[in-house]
Amino acid sequence: MRLKVFRHRQGMSEPRYDTFEMEAAPGMTVLSALFKIQEEFDDSLAFRYSCRGAVCGSCAMLINKVPRLACRTQLMPLLAGEQEISLSGYPAIGGPVSWDPKEDVLVEPLPHLPVICDLVVDMTRFFAFYRDIDPVFSPLDPDPEKERLMDPSDVRELELYTNCILCGACFAACPVDAKNPRFSGPAALASLYRFCIDPREGRRIERLKTADTPDGWWGCEFHANCRQVCPRGVPPIVAIGQARQEIKKQRKEGEEM
Ligand code: SF4
Ligand code: FES
Repeated sequence: MRLKVFRHRQGMSEPRYDTFEMEAAPGMTVLSALFKIQEEFDDSLAFRYSCRGAVCGSCAMLINKVPRLACRTQLMPLLAGEQEISLSGYPAIGGPVSWDPKEDVLVEPLPHLPVICDLVVDMTRFFAFYRDIDPVFSPLDPDPEKERLMDPSDVRELELYTNCILCGACFAACPVDAKNPRFSGPAALASLYRFCIDPREGRRIERLKTADTPDGWWGCEFHANCRQVCPRGVPPIVAIGQARQEIKKQRKEGEEM
């Protein structure tokens, strides 16, 4: 098989794609293949990783035109066509490179973020939106005498969102983030919603209102790419839909009072 890898760094006038031939062993991941390139072909190839176990979120990249974790994506199922995902309204797809999905695996940096070097992108915009939601618990009772007991169904709902590892795959797959640099994006909105539904949180309504804006809850166009690409099963689109319903309900109650 061949790995076609996007290359770009300071001093290069145009990006290019380098092709590396190797045997795809069963279980071999895209991240392992990138290490092989560094060790055996070209040690200047730049990419991010840390945990190698789908926990840190740092190895997200565009693999066969879909944002995925390199440490979790195996080569053989990709070549067998078993991991195809069809994304909607996605202008990042369809660049100038051609590849044969039966023979090649195409590896590129996450779209919608500036490339620093090869597969490493500048995540500043993504994390700025996350900081904006103030992702710090503000408890109802800051100093309880006993532990805060939770209803198991509340815990299950919260866990849908606390599973996020901030990899940025959803942000990179979102057609709204591609065209609107102010849209908070799926990950930040899902994290904000997590605080809006936490029964222990003291600022639930206030938090819901912080994203009651055209670039917050109301910026989403429901393409649902976020849910398709998330490696942790987080459903930002569900959070956004439920937040909108809650806001409408509160507006109606306000009008009736
Ligand atoms: S919601 Fe999923 S895809 Fe988006 S940043 Fe979190 S883990 Fe990654
Ligand atoms: S290296 Fe940590 S998620 Fe892939």
